[in-house]
Amino acid sequence: CLTPDLLHLHRLENSIVVVTDIFRATSCMVTGLAHGVESITPVATVEECKNLQDRGYIAAAERNAQKVEGFDLDNSPFSFMNEKLIGAKIAMTTTNGTLSIAKAKGSAVKVLVGAFLNLGALADHLRKEPYDVLVLCSGWKGRPNLEDTLFAGALAESLKNEYTLQEDSALMAQRLYNQGKGNLLSFVANSSHVRRLQRLGIQKDIAYSLQTDLYDVVPVLRGSSLVQMH
Ligand code: MLT
Repeated sequence: CLTPDLLHLHRLENSIVVVTDIFRATSCMVTGLAHGVESITPVATVEECKNLQDRGYIAAAERNAQKVEGFDLDNSPFSFMNEKLIGAKIAMTTTNGTLSIAKAKGSAVKVLVGAFLNLGALADHLRKEPYDVLVLCSGWKGRPNLEDTLFAGALAESLKNEYTLQEDSALMAQRLYNQGKGNLLSFVANSSHVRRLQRLGIQKDIAYSLQTDLYDVVPVLRGSSLVQMH
C-alpha cells in the first residue's frame, strides 16, 4: 500500500501490517528500541502527545520535519540514541508515520514497524508467519514517496521465496528496489523529502536511515505501544 490514503482498499483481517516511514519516524522507532527505550506510544495528534507528556511520558513531536515547540524530542534517529532514554516510555507524533500506525491499528492481525535498519530481522520474523503481509508506506500527506516504496521493495525482495507478490504495487516496489539497491543514497537524491530535509540542514539522518541491518529489533504494537518483540 503505497500511501495510507489507499489503505481502505485492503482487507486486513488476515494480514500483518508492516508500517514504514524511512525518513524518519520508523527509523527513529527502531533506533530507540534498539538503544534501550522501553516503549514508544505512537499517536496521531499533537494534542494526544501533549496529554501523554502531561502524564509523565517523554514526548517526541514533529510536524513538517521540525520539532513542535514544548516537546522533549525531535524526530531525528540520533535523538533516540540518548542513554537517558534507556527504560523510558516515549509518546510520539509525526506528520505521517504515526498517523499510518493509527490507521492500521485495530483490524490487522499484528502491526509491526519496519525500516532498512531492521530489514533482515523483520524478514526473518515474517518468514515464520502464516499470514499475508501488507507493507504500509507512510508517504507524505497522502502522496507516495520514493524511500518508503524502496523499503517495501526491499522487503518484497527478501521474502520472494516465501510469499507471492499479489499486488502490482508490490512488484513495482520490488523492481524499483532492484534498480536502486546498488546505491540507495544516490537513488533517493532529489526526492521530495530528501530535498525537504536538506533544506532544513538535516543531512545525516538521510544516510543513517538508508543503512541496512544495523539492528535486530522488531517493534510490535502491543495495545497502544510499540515494544520490542521477544
Ligand atoms: C513523518 O512521520 O512524516 C516523518 O517522520 C517526517 C520527518 O520528521 O522526517
